[in-house]
Amino acid sequence: MDDEISHLTPAAAALLAESDERRIRAIRSRRWVLYPRAKQALDRLSRLLDHPRGTRMPSVAIYGDSGMGKTMIMKKFRDEHPPSFSPMTGTLRTPVLAMEMTSRPGERRFYAEPLTLLGAPQRPRADIAQMEQAALRIMEAIGVQVLVID
Ligand SMILES: Nc1ncnc2c1ncn2[C@@H]1O[C@H](COP(=O)(O)OP(=O)(O)OP(=O)(O)O)[C@@H](O)[C@H]1O
Ligand SMILES: [Mg+2]
Repeated sequence: MDDEISHLTPAAAALLAESDERRIRAIRSRRWVLYPRAKQALDRLSRLLDHPRGTRMPSVAIYGDSGMGKTMIMKKFRDEHPPSFSPMTGTLRTPVLAMEMTSRPGERRFYAEPLTLLGAPQRPRADIAQMEQAALRIMEAIGVQVLVID
């Protein structure tokens, strides 16, 4: 028996004793495979995080066919840099703000998205300039360093 499971990681081996239901659930769960291109993309994104604030901040476009793993890379990057509580200021610092623009993109939606994501109150009649101000202000307040748009 020991021989048959020697190729499994301890976490996978531990699942063998679980019920069918739990094992199926584990198989279906999201998992991350690090392949060279994804590592390259993640390294590139990390370099953006290190970049000192300046007048012309760099940006990176990642393109690829549907299903190539762009969203997975974005989520991995976000998960690697989660929000952290700063005892100094008593606020939550969010270095990476990741937003998904699924339907038609537009300026209004673009600024509404981070506000919604962060649970900021929004005035229904706010014009685009006011929404832009609010989005910039809140991103500054929570220390956003990289904005990822999928
Ligand atoms: N690094 C990875 N590790 C494990 N599975 C992956 C990885 N990248 C992609 N996949 C698998 O491929 C599927 C499609 O990936 P993803 O949704 O990231 O593609 P996409 O490039 O964002 O596509 P689209 O352009 O249609 O949004 C994922 O749901 C996942 O099952
Ligand atoms: Mg995607």
